[in-house]
Amino acid sequence: MSATSPLSSPSPGPLTTKGASTNIVWHHSSVDRAARAHQRGHRSAILWFTGLSGAGKSTLANAVNSTLFEQGLACYVLDGDNVRHGLCQDLGFSDADRTENIRRIGEVAKLFVDAGVVVLTAFVSPFRADRARVRALVPEGDFIEIHCAADLAACETRDTKGLYAKARAGVIKEFTGISSPYEDPEQPELRVETGSQSLEDCVSQVIVYLEEQGIIPAAA
Ligand code: ADX
Repeated sequence: MSATSPLSSPSPGPLTTKGASTNIVWHHSSVDRAARAHQRGHRSAILWFTGLSGAGKSTLANAVNSTLFEQGLACYVLDGDNVRHGLCQDLGFSDADRTENIRRIGEVAKLFVDAGVVVLTAFVSPFRADRARVRALVPEGDFIEIHCAADLAACETRDTKGLYAKARAGVIKEFTGISSPYEDPEQPELRVETGSQSLEDCVSQVIVYLEEQGIIPAAA
């Protein structure tokens, strides 16, 4: 008999890494997600910020995180550049490595949801199928896809890390938007105009959505 996670739902497609572990049985925690939500006074969820490099994902995720933290909520940011220093330091930017990167982050984010935390992830996550796979890991309504919709021209003009110039010069290969694709979300829960709106307005758009969905309590 196989035991599965209570948070699991069907995945959109198999991944090569699946099935290496055998003879493992799911161990149920004595403190469940509902108990954590009750104690903390808010639900948990994945806020999945996706968009081009330089679109403002990390900036927005961190600003939303600060707002949640100031309200006393349990929250945490998983950031692409940071996670690639540790958990995903063995991965590059080929399509397969990006898929594995997002698979790992999806699984980590799912643990945060189980731990009762609002987890904010800031990854380019360029492929629709990868994002759909993460969405399928948690119950409906717990994966909130937030498209940081700054367009390529805006990101390239900003070029905060100087990476677009290097990508154009061919120094960096497989760079998203230049030599590697970005698949726009088709039906994100939120589309935020990070290229043109103020950070304050973008934060407020996210916070209002979370309040409307009953994930966090409305601010007094
Ligand atoms: S993802 O495609 O696998 O989701 P991730 O968000 O972890 O990417 O990392 C993207 C960050 O790595 C970018 O913000 C940028 O700073 C850096 N980076 C370095 N090389 C590349 C590349 N080839 N394509 C995109 N981002 C890159």
